[in-house]
Amino acid sequence: MQAHEGAHVSQAPRVLFDADTIAARVRELGARISEDYRERDPVLVVTLGGAFVFAADLARAIEQPLRIDFMGAQSYGDAMQSSGVVKITYELARPVEGQDVLLVEDIVETGRTAKTLVQLLKARGARSVDMVALLHKGTPDTLPLPIPYLGFRFEEGFVVGYGLDHAQRHRGLPHIAVLDEPG
Ligand code: IMP
Ligand code: MG
Repeated sequence: MQAHEGAHVSQAPRVLFDADTIAARVRELGARISEDYRERDPVLVVTLGGAFVFAADLARAIEQPLRIDFMGAQSYGDAMQSSGVVKITYELARPVEGQDVLLVEDIVETGRTAKTLVQLLKARGARSVDMVALLHKGTPDTLPLPIPYLGFRFEEGFVVGYGLDHAQRHRGLPHIAVLDEPG
Protein backbone atom coordinates (compact mmCIF):
# COMPACT_ATOMS: atom_id res chain seq x y z
CA MET A 1 0.00 0.00 0.00
CA GLN A 2 1.24 3.46 -0.83
CA ALA A 3 2.02 5.93 1.91
CA HIS A 4 -0.84 8.28 1.17
CA GLU A 5 -3.35 5.40 1.21
CA GLY A 6 -1.99 4.18 4.52
CA ALA A 7 -2.46 7.61 6.01
CA HIS A 8 -6.04 7.66 4.79
CA VAL A 9 -6.83 4.20 6.22
CA SER A 10 -5.40 5.07 9.63
CA GLN A 11 -7.95 7.89 9.91
CA ALA A 12 -10.87 5.60 9.08
CA PRO A 13 -13.20 4.77 11.96
CA ARG A 14 -12.49 1.40 13.65
CA VAL A 15 -15.15 -1.30 13.08
CA LEU A 16 -17.07 -2.19 16.25
CA PHE A 17 -19.99 -4.19 14.76
CA ASP A 18 -19.68 -5.37 11.18
CA ALA A 19 -22.54 -5.49 8.68
CA ASP A 20 -23.15 -9.26 9.00
CA THR A 21 -23.25 -9.08 12.79
CA ILE A 22 -25.75 -6.21 12.65
CA ALA A 23 -27.91 -7.99 10.05
CA ALA A 24 -28.08 -11.14 12.18
CA ARG A 25 -29.00 -9.17 15.30
CA VAL A 26 -31.67 -7.14 13.50
CA ARG A 27 -33.22 -10.40 12.22
CA GLU A 28 -33.33 -11.72 15.80
CA LEU A 29 -34.99 -8.54 17.08
CA GLY A 30 -37.50 -8.66 14.23
CA ALA A 31 -38.35 -12.30 14.99
CA ARG A 32 -38.86 -11.53 18.68
CA ILE A 33 -41.06 -8.53 17.92
CA SER A 34 -43.09 -10.57 15.41
CA GLU A 35 -43.68 -13.17 18.12
CA ASP A 36 -44.46 -10.71 20.94
CA TYR A 37 -46.77 -8.62 18.75
CA ARG A 38 -48.56 -11.46 16.95
CA GLU A 39 -51.93 -10.20 18.24
CA ARG A 40 -51.22 -6.54 17.47
CA ASP A 41 -50.27 -4.37 14.50
CA PRO A 42 -47.69 -1.99 15.94
CA VAL A 43 -46.70 1.41 14.65
CA LEU A 44 -42.96 2.02 14.38
CA VAL A 45 -42.14 5.54 15.54
CA VAL A 46 -38.66 6.13 14.15
CA THR A 47 -36.51 8.89 15.62
CA LEU A 48 -34.70 11.03 13.09
CA GLY A 49 -32.18 11.05 11.75
CA GLY A 50 -29.91 8.32 13.20
CA ALA A 51 -32.45 5.48 13.34
CA PHE A 52 -33.46 5.54 9.69
CA VAL A 53 -31.11 2.77 8.49
CA PHE A 54 -31.84 0.50 11.46
CA ALA A 55 -35.58 1.07 11.08
CA ALA A 56 -35.49 0.25 7.37
CA ASP A 57 -33.90 -3.14 8.10
CA LEU A 58 -36.02 -3.80 11.21
CA ALA A 59 -39.29 -3.06 9.39
CA ARG A 60 -38.43 -5.75 6.86
CA ALA A 61 -37.61 -8.24 9.65
CA ILE A 62 -41.05 -7.86 11.29
CA GLU A 63 -43.85 -10.02 9.89
CA GLN A 64 -46.83 -7.88 10.91
CA PRO A 65 -48.29 -5.19 8.71
CA LEU A 66 -46.71 -2.03 10.11
CA ARG A 67 -47.47 1.62 10.18
CA ILE A 68 -44.28 3.68 10.14
CA ASP A 69 -44.06 7.24 11.34
CA PHE A 70 -41.19 9.58 12.14
CA MET A 71 -40.33 11.93 14.94
CA GLY A 72 -37.42 14.30 15.33
CA ALA A 73 -36.13 15.09 18.80
CA GLN A 74 -33.24 17.18 19.98
CA SER A 75 -31.96 17.33 23.52
CA TYR A 76 -31.41 20.79 24.89
CA GLY A 77 -27.95 21.75 26.14
CA ASP A 78 -26.45 20.41 29.33
CA ALA A 79 -28.28 22.74 31.66
CA MET A 80 -31.64 21.59 30.35
CA GLN A 81 -30.79 17.92 29.90
CA SER A 82 -31.13 16.98 33.53
CA SER A 83 -34.82 17.86 33.32
CA GLY A 84 -35.15 15.63 30.26
CA VAL A 85 -36.52 18.45 28.14
CA VAL A 86 -36.36 17.65 24.43
CA LYS A 87 -37.39 19.80 21.53
CA ILE A 88 -39.56 18.10 18.90
CA THR A 89 -38.01 19.05 15.57
CA TYR A 90 -40.19 16.89 13.33
CA GLU A 91 -43.73 15.90 14.16
CA LEU A 92 -45.59 12.62 13.62
CA ALA A 93 -47.88 12.56 10.60
CA ARG A 94 -50.70 10.76 12.45
CA PRO A 95 -51.88 10.54 16.07
CA VAL A 96 -50.72 7.59 18.17
CA GLU A 97 -53.84 7.47 20.32
CA GLY A 98 -54.89 3.87 20.91
CA GLN A 99 -51.84 2.53 19.05
CA ASP A 100 -49.24 0.00 20.15
CA VAL A 101 -46.03 1.92 19.55
CA LEU A 102 -42.52 0.61 19.05
CA LEU A 103 -40.21 3.58 19.55
CA VAL A 104 -37.12 2.99 17.41
CA GLU A 105 -33.91 4.72 18.52
CA ASP A 106 -30.42 4.50 17.13
CA ILE A 107 -28.53 4.88 20.40
CA VAL A 108 -29.47 5.40 24.02
CA GLU A 109 -26.88 6.83 26.38
CA THR A 110 -28.33 8.43 29.53
CA GLY A 111 -31.80 7.48 28.31
CA ARG A 112 -33.16 10.98 28.89
CA THR A 113 -34.19 11.54 25.28
CA ALA A 114 -35.85 8.12 25.03
CA LYS A 115 -37.62 8.42 28.36
CA THR A 116 -39.04 11.82 27.46
CA LEU A 117 -40.33 10.51 24.13
CA VAL A 118 -41.93 7.46 25.76
CA GLN A 119 -43.71 9.73 28.25
CA LEU A 120 -44.84 12.03 25.46
CA LEU A 121 -46.26 9.16 23.39
CA LYS A 122 -48.08 7.79 26.44
CA ALA A 123 -49.45 11.25 27.26
CA ARG A 124 -50.81 11.36 23.72
CA GLY A 125 -52.80 8.23 24.43
CA ALA A 126 -50.69 5.44 22.94
CA ARG A 127 -52.03 2.12 24.25
CA SER A 128 -48.50 0.78 24.76
CA VAL A 129 -44.98 2.01 24.09
CA ASP A 130 -41.99 -0.33 23.90
CA MET A 131 -38.42 0.78 23.23
CA VAL A 132 -36.33 -0.66 20.44
CA ALA A 133 -32.74 0.58 20.41
CA LEU A 134 -29.93 -0.54 18.18
CA LEU A 135 -27.30 0.48 20.73
CA HIS A 136 -26.93 1.25 24.38
CA LYS A 137 -23.77 3.03 25.47
CA GLY A 138 -23.04 2.55 29.17
CA THR A 139 -24.04 0.12 31.90
CA PRO A 140 -27.54 -1.34 32.30
CA ASP A 141 -28.07 -0.15 35.88
CA THR A 142 -27.84 3.52 34.88
CA LEU A 143 -30.82 3.35 32.49
CA PRO A 144 -33.99 5.19 33.53
CA LEU A 145 -36.23 3.03 31.32
CA PRO A 146 -36.39 -0.56 30.13
CA ILE A 147 -35.25 -1.41 26.60
CA PRO A 148 -37.01 -4.69 25.84
CA TYR A 149 -35.50 -4.83 22.35
CA LEU A 150 -31.81 -3.92 22.36
CA GLY A 151 -29.32 -4.68 19.61
CA PHE A 152 -25.95 -4.22 21.28
CA ARG A 153 -24.43 -2.69 24.37
CA PHE A 154 -20.96 -1.18 24.56
CA GLU A 155 -19.19 0.74 27.28
CA GLU A 156 -17.77 3.90 25.81
CA GLY A 157 -16.58 5.74 22.72
CA PHE A 158 -18.34 7.74 20.02
CA VAL A 159 -19.82 5.54 17.30
CA VAL A 160 -20.86 6.31 13.74
CA GLY A 161 -22.21 4.45 10.72
CA TYR A 162 -25.37 2.45 9.94
CA GLY A 163 -27.29 5.73 10.22
CA LEU A 164 -25.35 7.30 13.09
CA ASP A 165 -23.40 10.45 12.44
CA HIS A 166 -20.81 12.77 13.78
CA ALA A 167 -21.52 16.28 12.48
CA GLN A 168 -23.72 14.66 9.78
CA ARG A 169 -20.89 12.47 8.47
CA HIS A 170 -20.46 8.67 8.25
CA ARG A 171 -24.20 7.85 8.21
CA GLY A 172 -23.75 5.73 5.08
CA LEU A 173 -21.19 3.29 6.50
CA PRO A 174 -22.58 -0.28 6.35
CA HIS A 175 -21.05 -1.10 9.75
CA ILE A 176 -20.82 0.61 13.14
CA ALA A 177 -17.44 2.13 13.87
CA VAL A 178 -15.74 3.98 16.69
CA LEU A 179 -14.37 7.44 16.04
CA ASP A 180 -11.12 7.57 17.95
CA GLU A 181 -10.83 11.31 17.69
CA PRO A 182 -14.13 12.96 16.89
CA GLY A 183 -13.48 16.49 15.78
P1 IMP B 1 -29.29 10.31 25.74
O1 IMP B 1 -30.48 11.21 25.86
O2 IMP B 1 -28.22 10.63 26.70
O3 IMP B 1 -29.70 8.84 25.84
O4 IMP B 1 -28.62 10.58 24.33
C1 IMP B 1 -28.91 9.85 23.19
C2 IMP B 1 -28.60 10.70 21.96
O5 IMP B 1 -27.25 11.18 21.99
C3 IMP B 1 -28.71 9.87 20.70
O6 IMP B 1 -30.02 9.94 20.15
C4 IMP B 1 -27.67 10.48 19.80
O7 IMP B 1 -28.24 11.57 19.09
C5 IMP B 1 -26.63 11.02 20.72
N1 IMP B 1 -25.45 10.13 20.87
C6 IMP B 1 -24.96 9.66 22.05
N2 IMP B 1 -23.88 8.89 21.84
C7 IMP B 1 -23.67 8.86 20.51
C8 IMP B 1 -22.67 8.20 19.67
O8 IMP B 1 -21.75 7.48 20.12
N3 IMP B 1 -22.79 8.40 18.33
C9 IMP B 1 -23.77 9.18 17.79
N4 IMP B 1 -24.71 9.80 18.53
C10 IMP B 1 -24.67 9.65 19.88
MG1 MG C 1 -31.01 10.37 18.39
